[in-house]
Amino acid sequence: MEAGKYYIETYGCQMNEADSEIIAGLLERENYIATCNPEEANIILVNTCSVRHGADNRAISRLSQFKSLKKTNPDLLLGLVGCVAQRDRGKILKEKPFIDLVLGPDAYRQIPQLIMNKPHSFVDVNLSRREVYDGLMPFRNSVVNAWVSIMRGCDKFCSYCIVPYTRGRERSRSVKSIVEEVKIAVNDGYQEITLLGQNVNSYRYKEYRFPELLIQVAKIPGVKRIRFTSPHPEDVNARMLEVMRDFDNICKHIHLPLQSGSTKVLSAMNRSYTQKRYLDFVANIRNLLPTCGITTDIIVGFPGETAADFEETLRVMDEVIFDNAYMFKYSPRPNTAAVQLTDNVTEEEKAERLNRIIAKQKKHTTFRNRQTIGTVQSVLIDGSSKKNVDEKIGRTDSNKLVILKEGNADIGDLIDILITGAPGVSLFGKIQKS
Ligand code: 5AD
Ligand code: SF4
Repeated sequence: MEAGKYYIETYGCQMNEADSEIIAGLLERENYIATCNPEEANIILVNTCSVRHGADNRAISRLSQFKSLKKTNPDLLLGLVGCVAQRDRGKILKEKPFIDLVLGPDAYRQIPQLIMNKPHSFVDVNLSRREVYDGLMPFRNSVVNAWVSIMRGCDKFCSYCIVPYTRGRERSRSVKSIVEEVKIAVNDGYQEITLLGQNVNSYRYKEYRFPELLIQVAKIPGVKRIRFTSPHPEDVNARMLEVMRDFDNICKHIHLPLQSGSTKVLSAMNRSYTQKRYLDFVANIRNLLPTCGITTDIIVGFPGETAADFEETLRVMDEVIFDNAYMFKYSPRPNTAAVQLTDNVTEEEKAERLNRIIAKQKKHTTFRNRQTIGTVQSVLIDGSSKKNVDEKIGRTDSNKLVILKEGNADIGDLIDILITGAPGVSLFGKIQKS
């Protein structure tokens, strides 16, 4: 019998998406049913992100909008979960007394029990050294790709980043439970598995490190594709690259967050590598995996970043020519080490630097995309184009988006596509007849 309906809205990274699927799994087990309409829900949860200013504001204002639904549905339970809950635990209920539940990222296991007791002003933001949600099956929203969380937390303490404070210490799931979850996902028809962790390649469980885990997952019969995100450059070692080379089903794409090209700024960011070492990481990847897509994250306007430091970032971009990049203005975050530093780059300078790297990256993305014209790429079809629903879309091994312009394919097909054009951010292609 149906226990009620739940609605979850998720902000932020893929880890949050995966966490929302774990929460949904817990609720489904208790016979709650998902709804896309908040107006008919008995439980509304907003899963928040605090990594940059903006995402956190949006999530909180969403909850204020849901408050009015309590007028027509007094039993409605409103919950704030995730990183903002963790960060703002002290003040959130004072400012928003209509919120019933405030749960940090390690407190989800108790949700079913909590909601039975119709809580008011319940807060649990304890961070755990052990919780990895082992044994809980996520209720997945996706069709082709299954997120599988393999580790949680972060011990790197980059000076700008709030994650070590909101998600706590690094801990890894057992190989056995990861392999079991992947087998179930394959059985359920998922073609692609994405291993997730804040620092996915810092994985360590007993004698297993990330490369050994990759082997165990790649050997599971029926796993067509494996991806992982996000790695830390420091842990991209030769062993990991060799395993990627040796297994066809491990996608040749590495997201390698640069953050800054200036060794001085990298040191102030507590990033542990220099510009030269970062370029060596890239050279190692290109050496062992010549077709590997490399994408990155870049922050501009970190405190103390001079025009000359910024030029170094441009220089690294020109040298690597990333396939794609996520680019941000530095955003001071509470509790972090960098918040103590004087934020001496003006807003105009930050905006100007951001515009410059965005423009540069656009050219580089176009350049990399054009390089694929005339090649045959293995593409996993995962949906339809928003502009034209008759056209299927998918991703290459190196994670480029392809729009199928000629030929038919079904969602879930892994097919060879001849790339015929690259007019913008995506590639055009047609089915390669064998
Ligand atoms: N300001 C701007 N960008 C940030 N990121 C993390 N913290 C901050 C911050 N305080 C970016 C980094 C990271 C990505 C997930 O978000 O580039 O890799
Ligand atoms: Fe944040 Fe650095 Fe950890 Fe990434 S590695 S989550 S940027 S502290």
